Amino acid sequence: MVNKYVFGSPFETEAVVTAYDAAKLPECFEYGEISADSGFCYQYQMDAKDVIYGLGEANRGINKRGYLYVSDCTDDPNHTEEKTSLYGAHNFVIVSGKKHFGLFFDYPGKMTFDVGYTRQDMLTVSCEQENLYLYVISGDSAYDVVKQFRKMIGTSYVAPKYAFGFGQSRWGYKTKDDIATVVKNYRDNHIPIDMVYLDIDYMQDFKDFTINPERFPDFPEFVQEMKDKKIHLIPIIDAGVKIETGYDIYEEGVKNGYFCKREDGSDFVAAVWPGWTHFPDVLNPDAREWFGGKYEILTQMGIDGFWNDMNEPCIFYSEEGVREVNAEIADYVETFEDQNTTEHLRNNGSILPWAVREKLDKLQNNPKDYTRFYHNVNGQKVRHDLVHNLFGFNMTRAAGEALKKIAPDRKMLLFSRSSYIGMHRYGGIWTGDNHSWWSHILLNLKMMPSLNMCGFLYTGADLGGFGSNTTRDLLLRWLSLGIFTPLMRNHTAIGTREQECYQFEHMEDFRHVVGVRYRLIPYLYSEYLKAAKRDEMYFRPLGFDYPEDTRAIETEDQLLLGNEAMIAPVYTQNASGRVVYLPEEMKFIKFMPDGSIFEEILGRGTHYIDVALNEIPLFIRKNCCIPVVDAAENVEAIDMKTMKYIGFEGAVYELLEE
Ligand code: NOJ
Repeated sequence: MVNKYVFGSPFETEAVVTAYDAAKLPECFEYGEISADSGFCYQYQMDAKDVIYGLGEANRGINKRGYLYVSDCTDDPNHTEEKTSLYGAHNFVIVSGKKHFGLFFDYPGKMTFDVGYTRQDMLTVSCEQENLYLYVISGDSAYDVVKQFRKMIGTSYVAPKYAFGFGQSRWGYKTKDDIATVVKNYRDNHIPIDMVYLDIDYMQDFKDFTINPERFPDFPEFVQEMKDKKIHLIPIIDAGVKIETGYDIYEEGVKNGYFCKREDGSDFVAAVWPGWTHFPDVLNPDAREWFGGKYEILTQMGIDGFWNDMNEPCIFYSEEGVREVNAEIADYVETFEDQNTTEHLRNNGSILPWAVREKLDKLQNNPKDYTRFYHNVNGQKVRHDLVHNLFGFNMTRAAGEALKKIAPDRKMLLFSRSSYIGMHRYGGIWTGDNHSWWSHILLNLKMMPSLNMCGFLYTGADLGGFGSNTTRDLLLRWLSLGIFTPLMRNHTAIGTREQECYQFEHMEDFRHVVGVRYRLIPYLYSEYLKAAKRDEMYFRPLGFDYPEDTRAIETEDQLLLGNEAMIAPVYTQNASGRVVYLPEEMKFIKFMPDGSIFEEILGRGTHYIDVALNEIPLFIRKNCCIPVVDAAENVEAIDMKTMKYIGFEGAVYELLEE
């Protein structure tokens, strides 16, 4: 049962697709206290045993109790435990205890979720403006609440089957030869792969929808050459459009008024990778259609997948910011006028007085900049900070809507860094700039079910870690989780150790681990399709299926996958196995490096399982089975005739295919 309440004059975010009549809050509201006189504040006194699920892409646990989370899409490449904001804003929480209910605060500005941080028993959700819709979803269980919510917000985007293959990426591949070398190494070493990602260096001077002709001559031919090798090239698209006379996209945007504007009507200027840029006003339907249409430039060259980046939107600094800092640091250093000087100062910060450095650091993603530009929403001028969390959503919506028109019969791969609820209808997400830290394997695992609750099914993290140098064992263990996440991509930052699978000794271990992904693709894709079509979750916390089992509810390092399986990856260094909790009897499976499958029935309770670096553990639930095929070097090469079932005798599996 869903109730929609209105406070003030909300912005229509289009997160929800089902129409409900919005009511004023009744006198006897049984789900907490609300004050909406100046600002908005919701409070609910939590029972000691209430579990709080949700918040999608957020830090910390599956049970969000005990910390503070702020919906404020932020480009922060250091996901340390104390951080309160990441790239997404997913304002959906579920209270699960004696009662089960969900709350969706449809508010596109900054919003704070204090989940027992200030007062252990109090859930407080607040924001500065009292203009929002609150949806209250009551149900029989946490999963029931999720299913109703998912129906409300519309069917999740479905990625093409090839996107369940393995992808290799690195910020730093500069030329066509770099890409061809990666592909050759994977193919020569028979490590399966379907995608190679193009980071910003494929573009001409970081200009969206351009190709650098020196580094990527004959691009369409190259795309085809790769296709012949069964490789899809997936280019990045950034939010900022470079300001450059003669660059058609810049000129068209200026002429038609399609960029975000300052209060005085001039185009807002912010520095990102290309230098000074304008932001396409993706909240303006005409500008959205125009920007989305540009994706055709690349699809015409044979491209069939994209990743949208820097769309919080990330701002290195604005013209106004630079001017202000100039004034503030005038006593310390000579002022600077152009962006090169700004860059120079930022990069050589260590030689600057501390007071100056601090000011320069604050230039990046400065909240003040988000008050300096406006959107044109159907003729209405809306200040960006009030709708900040909708930018990434609408950039990806631009692409998603356009790609449907460009290639109506083809599924395209599309995912984004920043997001709001509703974006799940247009694309998936990746979880941004993690680090090569063991703790980030666990963070990756914990985020997955929370994202599924919010409709984001095609998701995954940078396997091996984006920042810092990876190690062989970290990558192997992380891949052993990644083989189960819909998006399975090894990606790393410029300047870090090379982390393609073939860079490490005993490459056969990587061939085996990635190969297990391909053995499981018929099962994984089938469960993914079911989750999307039936508004279900591909990954679930154990408590969703075993709500009476406290131990299951408290287990946050295992997940249910689809309807038949449970995963329990190893995520600590130098461990030869791990402890696993089984809420019921299950079949313990291990994919062994010689291609055989180890099977053993384990009873309900706690077990220690041995898992070598090159073994993949999986649990099949009682009376269930799953299909497995022989490994293949790409998705197209999977031979369905090799399919057999593993699990419990006599069990039947419903296989859903594209
Ligand atoms: C930030 C993204 O999060 C990262 O994945 C990408 O490599 C860099 N931008 C460069 O494009």
